[in-house]
Amino acid sequence: MNEEQRRDASKVSQKKEEKDYSQYFQHVYQPPNLRDARKRGKTEVDYISDFKIEERFRNLGKERKFYIRTYGCQMNMHDTEVMAGIFTALGYEATDNTEDADVILLNTCAIRENAENKVFGEIGNLKHVKQNNPEVLIGVCGCMAQEEAVVNKILKSYQNVDIIFGTHNIHRLPNILDEAYMSKEKVIEVWSKEGDVIENLPKVREGGTKAWVNIMYGCDKFCTYCIVPFTRGKERSRLPEDILEEVRDLAARGYQEVTLLGQNVNSYGKDLDLDYDLGDLMRAVSETDMPRVRFTTSHPWDFTDNLIEVLATGGNLMPHIHLPVQSGNNAVLKIMGRKYTREEYLELVHKIRTAMPDVALTTDIIVGYPNETEEQFQDTMSLYQEVGFEHAYTYIYSPREGTPAARMEDNVSDQDKKDRLHRLNRMVTHYTRDTLQKFEGEVVEVLCEGPSKKRDDIYAGYTDKMKLVNFTSPGDEVIGKIVKVKVTEAMNYSLMGEFVEVIEHEKVEA
Ligand code: SAH
Ligand code: SF4
Ligand code: F3S
Repeated sequence: MNEEQRRDASKVSQKKEEKDYSQYFQHVYQPPNLRDARKRGKTEVDYISDFKIEERFRNLGKERKFYIRTYGCQMNMHDTEVMAGIFTALGYEATDNTEDADVILLNTCAIRENAENKVFGEIGNLKHVKQNNPEVLIGVCGCMAQEEAVVNKILKSYQNVDIIFGTHNIHRLPNILDEAYMSKEKVIEVWSKEGDVIENLPKVREGGTKAWVNIMYGCDKFCTYCIVPFTRGKERSRLPEDILEEVRDLAARGYQEVTLLGQNVNSYGKDLDLDYDLGDLMRAVSETDMPRVRFTTSHPWDFTDNLIEVLATGGNLMPHIHLPVQSGNNAVLKIMGRKYTREEYLELVHKIRTAMPDVALTTDIIVGYPNETEEQFQDTMSLYQEVGFEHAYTYIYSPREGTPAARMEDNVSDQDKKDRLHRLNRMVTHYTRDTLQKFEGEVVEVLCEGPSKKRDDIYAGYTDKMKLVNFTSPGDEVIGKIVKVKVTEAMNYSLMGEFVEVIEHEKVEA
């Protein structure tokens, strides 16, 4: 905590006395502290298999509507589906208009400063909604709610926020809403416990074609720049049978694709006493009736031979691996705490490509790490070329309070950071276009999700390698199906094509 924040915190504690917020603060997560967080391996994880909405809450949503705005990664998008499930079970109706809503939740992301700034901007915008409708409840949840500095800032400067709850408290939403209605006071519930595994949560999934399925929560990798291990708690895996049951149920309900989710899926199973890893799980999921199976995100560390062997069997396991490298320079990788070298990463890529010659590889890269030199940045550029990634998400390093990197001296100027990002992005765009152009004239398999965003008579979906395709089709019968599409033209970020035929999916014999 710096001096200014300490002052802010003491202001909050004075205010607390007036308004008596103290009761809430006992739950609030401590600012990220690496030493404490590393001890957490020993804390117990509770597996709660019988989540139920209590009868007394069943009418909470009668004649009320909810609105959730989601920021951040797939984990957050899926958490929103769980919260939508809980709201629906409580009798609320969904709305996509904040003016119409009785509860507005912002499911937030803390990964970079600009992600947080967007949320603060939106909380500010919601002031007028509260003025028009003082009864509306405004809530902040997700990763930012796990940061004490953020909670303090909201309490100090954003009086329009009524509810704050953390990523470990989602299943407590009915209790939190009930308390907000009953007490008419701010409700703040952020547990410092590193999280449990709660099964049987209701979910309202977006669209009926693709589904996210959590396989694990949290992250114990502690890359030195990253806030996630603090906002999402310790690594904890769901049990294989719970995951498989969810996937089988989705397949039976006609879903065509699942993406198995975790911040670091390659650690799957390590916390279970089962001798069972991600490769074993992928093998079991491949044996279900689900037509397409993906996973995200992989860490190059722990990418086992077993997993490569399983992925190479193909079938419903999609030939795309997102494998964040972050940097191509060994000294930078070392201070990032990534635990692999450039050479080891390249060796892994070689192994994967030997087993799966046709695999699509994409990555994440951070530029402008504290003290990154131009030569070190050039190593990232050359690694990109050496691998020939099909696409990348690229970021300027953003210091996150409490992480080790935030304490490092940073002598890279803003101008250099922007310039490096710009040069990297130019290369990424070139590779993306080049990859897409190779599809011109080819027939690809596309899971059609519905009409394209721009035109109703054009349909959109993704190929097995995650390329977006917009294509013409005689009618709506393609929606929710895997179809063959002939690619007519490559655009900068997507493909154009024409419908050829629907692929009939054969069920796997039990
Ligand atoms: N668990 C995933 C990444 C999750 S965060 C993994 O380890 O690969 C998604 C991406 O955001 C990261 O891969 C990284 O490139 C970027 N990122 C994370 N923290 C960041 C920070 N402090 N500044 C800039 N980018 C960051
Ligand atoms: Fe963050 Fe990913 Fe590293 Fe975990 S593995 S600390 S989520 S970058
Ligand atoms: Fe953001 Fe939290 Fe995901 S910080 S990237 S929403 S895990």
